[in-house]
Amino acid sequence: MKVLFVCLGNICRSPAAEGIFRSKVSENGLSDNVEIDSAGTAGYHIGEMADSRMIKHCRERGYDISPHRARQLSYNDLVEYDLILAMDRSNYSNIQRLDRRNEFSEKIKMMTDFVTYMKATEVPDPYYDGPKEFHFVIDLLEDGSDNLLKYISERL
Ligand code: 4NP
Repeated sequence: MKVLFVCLGNICRSPAAEGIFRSKVSENGLSDNVEIDSAGTAGYHIGEMADSRMIKHCRERGYDISPHRARQLSYNDLVEYDLILAMDRSNYSNIQRLDRRNEFSEKIKMMTDFVTYMKATEVPDPYYDGPKEFHFVIDLLEDGSDNLLKYISERL
């Protein structure tokens, strides 16, 4: 099973989602069954590390996302991955735009489809915000990752 997290820049939300989900998958002994990556719909930050604030706040919560390097989403990702998870509605429409022939709509979902305990319809962009908003993003991603893990385990 191949899972891809997608945001705009691939430096804040989707690298955090990737790191958090990878850690849950590993804790549950499923690392050999689940492949995880992230990408951005935009190319502004290709090759860059995750945003230093997200690296710091993820570290505070026990996740090391420092090895991450940003990359841009491609049509080939839509072919390759089994599940493509958008952080917000704008990311979702950008992914849909790459899917011109509407071949992959079943595997494109919102990350918040998996958020259970918290109330949210999007994982909001924290780029122009402070530590509180970064931690809110991490809270949402932890909540969603738990349920996503359950969803995937049932389909392996
Ligand atoms: P991300 O956050 O999509 O969660 O990686 C952003 C990163 C960069 C920009 C916007 C959002 N930017 O405009 O450069």
